Amino acid sequence: MSERTFSIIKPDAVRKGYTAAILAEIEKAGFKIVGLKKISISKVQAEGFYAVHSARPFFDSLTTFMSSGSIVPLVLEKDNAIADLRKLMGATNPANAEEGTIRKKFAGSIEENAIHGSDAPETAAFEIGYFFAGYELA
Ligand code: CMP
Repeated sequence: MSERTFSIIKPDAVRKGYTAAILAEIEKAGFKIVGLKKISISKVQAEGFYAVHSARPFFDSLTTFMSSGSIVPLVLEKDNAIADLRKLMGATNPANAEEGTIRKKFAGSIEENAIHGSDAPETAAFEIGYFFAGYELA
């Protein structure tokens, strides 16, 4: 069944000039790009996005990193989009990511790991709504 997921090309990957290469991997894997923009967010906006991680020891560093430069939020659509994007991204820590995955190719560390992808339908709905209005999706 066709499903939507939410993704972010993170500041490390945008800074290194990997935006187009990552978008190409995503399209090659069969995702339709339904929403796309390039923005930068404040630390407070990053804290709101990652609120589920607020008790984690890496929260302050993660939200500082996510507000350190431009990001590219995306809404992606295909059958089984949430699970398929997570497979395409690879493990959170690029050291554990499988060959051929986006994080294996483009990520530098467990924090600066190039790309975010929603982990469940409820989080996808929250995350899409956090960054996109309905009229921005087509
Ligand atoms: P993401 O999929 O966006 O979800 C939460 C983010 O927190 C994760 O990618 C990483 O960028 C970061 N993260 C997760 N675990 C750690 C960790 N152990 N140390 C630092 N950052 C982490």
